Amino acid sequence: MMRTDDRGLCVSGADRPAVEQFETALSRLLCGNGDPEPACAAALARCPEFAMARTLAAYVQLCGSAAAGAARAAAMLPELRQAARTDRERQHVEVIAAYSAGDFDDAAERLDDILLEHPRDLLALHQGHLLDFYRGDQRNLRDRVARVRHAWSPALPGHHSVLAMHAFGLEECGDYGQAEDLGREALAIEPGDTWAHHAVAHVMEMQGRRREGIQWMRDREPQWAPDGGSAVHNWWHLALFLLDGDRSDEALALYDRRVAPGAGVLDLVDASALLWRLALREIDCGDRWKLLAQLWAPFVCDGWYAFNDVHAMMAFVGAGRWELAEQLLATMRHRLGRPGGNRAMTEEVGLPLARALADFGRRDFGAAIALLRPLRSRAQRFGGSHAQRDLVDLTLLEAARRDGQASLLRALAHERLAARGESPLVRRYLERAADLRGAA
Ligand SMILES: [Fe+2]
Repeated sequence: MMRTDDRGLCVSGADRPAVEQFETALSRLLCGNGDPEPACAAALARCPEFAMARTLAAYVQLCGSAAAGAARAAAMLPELRQAARTDRERQHVEVIAAYSAGDFDDAAERLDDILLEHPRDLLALHQGHLLDFYRGDQRNLRDRVARVRHAWSPALPGHHSVLAMHAFGLEECGDYGQAEDLGREALAIEPGDTWAHHAVAHVMEMQGRRREGIQWMRDREPQWAPDGGSAVHNWWHLALFLLDGDRSDEALALYDRRVAPGAGVLDLVDASALLWRLALREIDCGDRWKLLAQLWAPFVCDGWYAFNDVHAMMAFVGAGRWELAEQLLATMRHRLGRPGGNRAMTEEVGLPLARALADFGRRDFGAAIALLRPLRSRAQRFGGSHAQRDLVDLTLLEAARRDGQASLLRALAHERLAARGESPLVRRYLERAADLRGAA
């Protein structure tokens, strides 16, 4: 007799204790809280033919968003193919084949196909959600989740994760009220759901609620720190709230204590994004750039994901490692001639943005502005969140200030004021624009 998981989906090759280990791994992955790999390994040690545990292990490799992880997932394919018994399990194998080959769009669509027949496949929903995030597919960040909610009820294990994903998708689509409600509803069910916590943090970030945001992060820190999968990213969000309140020293101290990177790409992205924001405020980041550039250097030839490449570029520019910056640009140009989802992301956003950052670093602010201005309305196509891509706007504002472009600076500062309300940064830019115009 075939077993089922906790949502009633058939799973082959497993006994009940192995299913329980799988559920633990799945919950850790979805909550961003704790390492899913030991529980997954325990399930497979007990039942080596457990196809969905093998599938989860491959997705864990893929969602680290690095070429090395994709290669590890690709290496798992022969065993996965052998273990898969049901149609759903075989469909997952094809998703992993497409994903690990870099065909992100095909993988995302195949996951949608699985969800049409199996709307309670939480792993498919989660991986689709992450792919929507990585591909900047805002509509599906919200609507992939909306399409499955008919099959869910509060009694089903993992319901809070569905609410958390829906909350984040709603936030990225600008529906802040509903996003916050669903995020809080998810947290009432499972306080350790860091994706729900993070969705509410995004709402506060987008609405300029910096004091409330700091409180939100600090009050709930025991739920997502210190070693949950999302801890570094949550500290990064705390640093954004601090920066928004002009508390740069505290943000830098937080970088040293909490954000300063390990070797994983997702942590390196947060580290680059924070140091770059500090540098835009002319905070001396000292040797931090040097170390960060060293950690990015092994990824310079990967060409796996344009969003990562741009964050590597920040470190190379910050450290003055121009040889690495040039090598990265060459990798990105080479990427344009190869198939896969990253080609368009590189062409439309990644490469021009990386060039703009290099121009900014060489103090050619006019060239940086010329590249950044047309880029802003299509920047979502290379993925990430609005909060992460805010870096494009912040760099443009600072380039306008440093280049003395008073009218552009005034316009951009007013745009930010309208979107996020008053902040010390906006006030400074408005004053500077008025000074520049007065002096003209
Ligand atoms: Fe975030």
